[in-house]
Amino acid sequence: MYSQAKVIAGGLAHIPVVIAVFYFILTTFNKRALKFLEEAKTKKPEPKAVEPKKVAISKTEAPKTEAPKVVKKKHADVPVNIYRPKTPYEGTVIGNYSLLKEGAIGRVNHITFDLKDSDPFLNYVEGQSIGIMPAGEDANGKPHKLRLYSIASTRHGDDFNGNTVSLCVRQLQYEKDGETINGVCSTYLCDIKPGDKVKITGPVGKEMLLPDEEDANIVMLATGTGIAPMRAYLRRMFEPTEKEKNKWNFKGKAWLFMGAPKSANLLYEEDLQRYLTDNPDNFKYTKAISREQQNTKGGRMYIQDRVLESANELFNMIEDEKTHIYLCGLKGMEPGIDEAMTKAAEEKGLNWSELRPQLKKSGRWHVETY
Ligand code: FAD
Ligand code: A2P
Repeated sequence: MYSQAKVIAGGLAHIPVVIAVFYFILTTFNKRALKFLEEAKTKKPEPKAVEPKKVAISKTEAPKTEAPKVVKKKHADVPVNIYRPKTPYEGTVIGNYSLLKEGAIGRVNHITFDLKDSDPFLNYVEGQSIGIMPAGEDANGKPHKLRLYSIASTRHGDDFNGNTVSLCVRQLQYEKDGETINGVCSTYLCDIKPGDKVKITGPVGKEMLLPDEEDANIVMLATGTGIAPMRAYLRRMFEPTEKEKNKWNFKGKAWLFMGAPKSANLLYEEDLQRYLTDNPDNFKYTKAISREQQNTKGGRMYIQDRVLESANELFNMIEDEKTHIYLCGLKGMEPGIDEAMTKAAEEKGLNWSELRPQLKKSGRWHVETY
């Protein structure tokens, strides 16, 4: 028979045995654990199996380990090359009239083409150009190459229906060996009649696009047909029906410097005067009429002379990062503009040769000369 005392005594007698077993287990475990830790310290970590990232790698690019950044291409939504020289669109001429007044020099026409049957639709934005392929062949019996022309209409067209494009074309004429030579494409364009079919390519160009910001300031330096893109900008800003269509509520300051040989050569003058009357706080218009006005040296008045006269006000605007400058027209005006900007900048204690690349880099200096 077991008495209670015997059971307790028996239990107590087992305690050392239980402790001994526990001690044995603990020391064995600790030794192994220490060994494992020691091993872990000296061993190089095993490379983890990583799922390779799916990154498009060009031949010259090193594999990227970071997640690729989604970089939105600038102006990616602007249409380009919808029609190319091999498959141009045949647009129908719907208007061709002279932009010049009595007594003007040369020939400059406003020409409009119907685009409504184009498929894919030939859409464009302000500041782009289209290509024109003149009919006929060159001296080698090959079809004439295309010539580019700045678009003078807004994307909504002159009739606001969004299915036309307009150009502002000066006929090229020069004398050679006592003979008058007419430019091939400019003469073809100035001579075409409503109903004629014309081969059109494009649109092209992203250099002369307007900024999206409604409070941007737009300085425009144009000679002759260089007014073409500026006319589109100014219509977008100030033409009432166009504004209703585009919903772009321009709030900045637009300043046009326009160079023409005679008053009778000023292009789109009535429209510009109307914009001035209607928007006196937002539009400034400065003319340089080379053969009627003189600069301070007694020479022909060019837009660069006007730039110098307005140096202070102009550079106050340029110092504002909301200001964009657009230059369009004769290639020959570029050195003159550069020289004037250099002098004008100096008057403000600025260095134009440093400033211009900065403006270009920040997308505020836009040039299209020909
Ligand atoms: P061509 O028959 O091609 O003759 C031109 C050639 O004649 C020249 O290459 C040169 O070799 C020679 N030549 C020219 N002048 C003389 C001279 N004085 N003495 C001797 N040889 C000479 N034009 C516009 O009217 N409006 C625009 O809006 C417009 N936008 C343009 C936009 C861009 C981006 C570019 C690049 C050009 C633009 N032009 C514009 C110019 C246009 O593309 C043509 O160059 C211009 O119309 C002359 O083409 P053409 O076929 O009549 O002349
Ligand atoms: P000009 O011809 O009197 O020397 P258009 O294209 O209608 O002929 O107009 C171009 C305007 O640009 C004209 O007034 C012309 O003057 C002017 N111009 C000519 N050369 C330059 C130049 N290097 N810099 C600025 N303007 C110029």
